[in-house]
Amino acid sequence: EQIEKGGFEHFMLKEIHEQPNAIKDTYRGRLLVKEGIIRMAGIDDNIEKFLNANRIIVVACGTSWHAGLVAEYIFEDLARIPVEVEYASEFRYRNPVITSNDVVIAISQSGETADTLAAIKLAKANGAFVFGVCNVVGSSIARETNAGAYTHAGPEIGVASTKAFTTQITVLTLIALKLAKAKGSISNSDYRYHLQELELIPEKVAKALKSDEHIKQVADIYKDARNCLYLGRGYNFPVALEGALKLKEISYIHAEGYPAAEMKHGPIALIDEQMPVVVVATKKGHYEKVVSNIQEIKSRKGKIIGIVTEGDIHVKELADHIIEVPETLEPLSPLLTTIPLQLLSYHIAVMLGKNVDQPRNLAKSVTVE
Ligand code: G6P
Repeated sequence: EQIEKGGFEHFMLKEIHEQPNAIKDTYRGRLLVKEGIIRMAGIDDNIEKFLNANRIIVVACGTSWHAGLVAEYIFEDLARIPVEVEYASEFRYRNPVITSNDVVIAISQSGETADTLAAIKLAKANGAFVFGVCNVVGSSIARETNAGAYTHAGPEIGVASTKAFTTQITVLTLIALKLAKAKGSISNSDYRYHLQELELIPEKVAKALKSDEHIKQVADIYKDARNCLYLGRGYNFPVALEGALKLKEISYIHAEGYPAAEMKHGPIALIDEQMPVVVVATKKGHYEKVVSNIQEIKSRKGKIIGIVTEGDIHVKELADHIIEVPETLEPLSPLLTTIPLQLLSYHIAVMLGKNVDQPRNLAKSVTVE
């Protein structure tokens, strides 16, 4: 097992550090920057289905559901296709309206999640075209779907999903860009720019990973917190949800993710000097609005950990701590802002002596309802 961990203390840490290569493996052979082409057979062969779709319905559970939420922002923003993101377990039991003009995207690392598999069967029975985004090759979901794209992240052993999440977002970004190009909803130059920036993401992830020591120091300060709030807007709202989930899963600290602007409709009541608030506040994502959310937290004495773009000045003035990530295009920012949140959860859980790779009560693959 020690050999399998490749010198890392835990599988989770190894998998966090594998992300630059995992993302490269995901886009290898698909992202052809010079040619300006995205090659994905599963999309090419079924492009009409996507272009004629009334809407895309994403079904997934857990972290994969968060990747689906990121996809909602990217698909709507770039490809101008309406998207709904559903918990597979809710979707399948509520007599959903599904037509043959719907395209369903099922996202699953394991490809074995029972609720997601059942949602796929229901969608197919109602005539929808179902596309899978799975990591495990030959898994039940990969076989059950009409077409699909693998994430190629390699085996993920840690129960808390890390590289599966960022590679799912990578695949979904490739699909969104490909559809945007086919639809003409993105300008040629913008399309090219996104391709170039996507290719640079692995090295920017590697740079974000360099903040590890600093994040460890922040973890040490907040490891005894009873609660923690995660806030983000736009593309970084799902990142806030995923950051909170990571903390809950492995450290057992209660954490909630919220859209930053919704804070005033409830969570603001929780803020006092005991409450750490992690705010994703990158430069392009409604930055000024997030800065004013941070001011509201500060005036209530909350402790602020800001995830910011390199060179940030405004959040730095207000926050108790900042963790920098490299600059990128807004739709790609979740691939970077996720990284410090994974490391923060990891270090807190290790400091608390928790079983990081196999947290209590959780399973890597949930094959029962
Ligand atoms: C379990 C795992 C999570 C995962 C979820 C969905 O809860 O512990 O890490 O996100 O299942 O799994 P899937 O394999 O369908 O992505």
